[in-house]
Amino acid sequence: MKNFARLAVYFSIITGSALLVSLVDGCTFQNEEDYFGETYCDTIDVSYEDLTYIFTDICATCHNSIITPRPDIVMDSYENVKASINTGLVLPAINHSGDYKMPQGRDKLSTCDISKIEAWVNAGMPEISEN
Ligand code: HEC
Repeated sequence: MKNFARLAVYFSIITGSALLVSLVDGCTFQNEEDYFGETYCDTIDVSYEDLTYIFTDICATCHNSIITPRPDIVMDSYENVKASINTGLVLPAINHSGDYKMPQGRDKLSTCDISKIEAWVNAGMPEISEN
């Protein structure tokens, strides 16, 4: 019986450390996922709705229907964003290759965000995803 108790203690120590190891492993793995999440850029089947976190949340704070420094650049709705892109000024502005560097006063959009916008434009600017 005493031996059994000792075995039980050993067993719990071993499973305990196995659990600990798997927890630590889990964390490492999650970090790796985060890492891949940042470096992997999904540009497939991008829709307008996927991009409102840029157009609406960033660009439309300055370029909206009520107030915009440029009447030809209004970024607050699907139709307005399409018309703005069709001026041919938006892609140079976000790539910092035009006269103005957008978004003004903020960091350049990430390479992934720019790739998503370009992929969306090349796909004909769909409003909603196909899938
Ligand atoms: C903080 C305010 C602000 C934000 C945010 C902003 N813009 Fe602008 N934008 C301006 C101003 C000011 C101008 C310059 C207007 C002028 O002097 O003609 C401008 C001009 C532009 C132009 C005209 C460029 C040209 O070559 O004539 C485009 C295109 C543009 N913005 C797109 C964007 C896009 C796309 C975003 C979001 C990624 C954005 N802007 C975010 C303030 C802003």
